[in-house]
Amino acid sequence: MLLITCPVCRSPLEQHAQVWSCTNRHSFDVAREGYVNLLLAQQKNSPSPGDSAESLRARRAFLEAGHYAPLRKALHSLADELGALRILDLGCGEGYYTSALGPSESEVEVAGLDIAKPAIQLAAKRYRGIRWIVGSGASLPFADRSLDLVTNLFTQLHVSELRRVIEHGGHLVIVTPAPDHLWSLRAGLFETVQAHEPEKFLGELGDGFTLDRHLNIRNELDLGQQALRDLLAMTPYVWKARPERRARLEASPGLRTAAHFTVLVVRRC
Ligand SMILES: C[S@@+](CC[C@H](N)C(=O)[O-])C[C@H]1O[C@@H](n2cnc3c(N)ncnc32)[C@H](O)[C@@H]1O
Ligand SMILES: [Zn+2]
Repeated sequence: MLLITCPVCRSPLEQHAQVWSCTNRHSFDVAREGYVNLLLAQQKNSPSPGDSAESLRARRAFLEAGHYAPLRKALHSLADELGALRILDLGCGEGYYTSALGPSESEVEVAGLDIAKPAIQLAAKRYRGIRWIVGSGASLPFADRSLDLVTNLFTQLHVSELRRVIEHGGHLVIVTPAPDHLWSLRAGLFETVQAHEPEKFLGELGDGFTLDRHLNIRNELDLGQQALRDLLAMTPYVWKARPERRARLEASPGLRTAAHFTVLVVRRC
């Protein structure tokens, strides 16, 4: 059973079909789409925190076209192999990877949490059987040591919360761009391309975590114009690029590049 806690007083939440509530009478309605909003006003750093609806729509279109399917498949196998029963996908976005984490017919329980309400709304409408939560990675609504696996894909690490919620012997899986991820796309956007540094995340983790495995998932992409536009709309790179460079890429008929991800499998010790 996933031990989800009240964001106000941290006592356990009883999860009913229409409402989740704690013994201190804090209660949170289950929305029509099936998600629960546990994000408190003081946990928001802006009126609509997290990814925008526009970037989420582009992300969904790009992911559903299968361009990053090898990564989704690898995550599915990894979760299976680790044998985790209580899983959280943190910063889950619109749920494409979350939905690959648990074999539906087993006792595996999966939650997806994101600070962006539009992300969780999209996820909950599309994928059933997962606990969808609007919440903050900086203050996770989960009991201490109550999770066997937390996945962190392309999102910020909140180390002290991860250390608190993952059971000893459980795992944290960090997915981040490999040094040459989307190199030719980035060469179109910037004068000089900086190699990503996936290992820097290990330095952030500190005590209580040890690296078990380092995997690389790479696939060639042959993108048509629409896929290229979706990719540009979903990636944070574009905010740093000069607008004329972005416009030139968007107008091009397509692009060949390679997706390359680093997967760090870290054990909570
Ligand atoms: C680059 S997107 C990745 C989404 C998803 N993991 C994927 O790979 O498709 C980063 C996500 O992290 C979420 N996010 C950012 N800050 C967060 C926080 N403090 N707590 C929870 N989610 C957060 C954003 O709203 C966004 O959906
Ligand atoms: Zn409470």
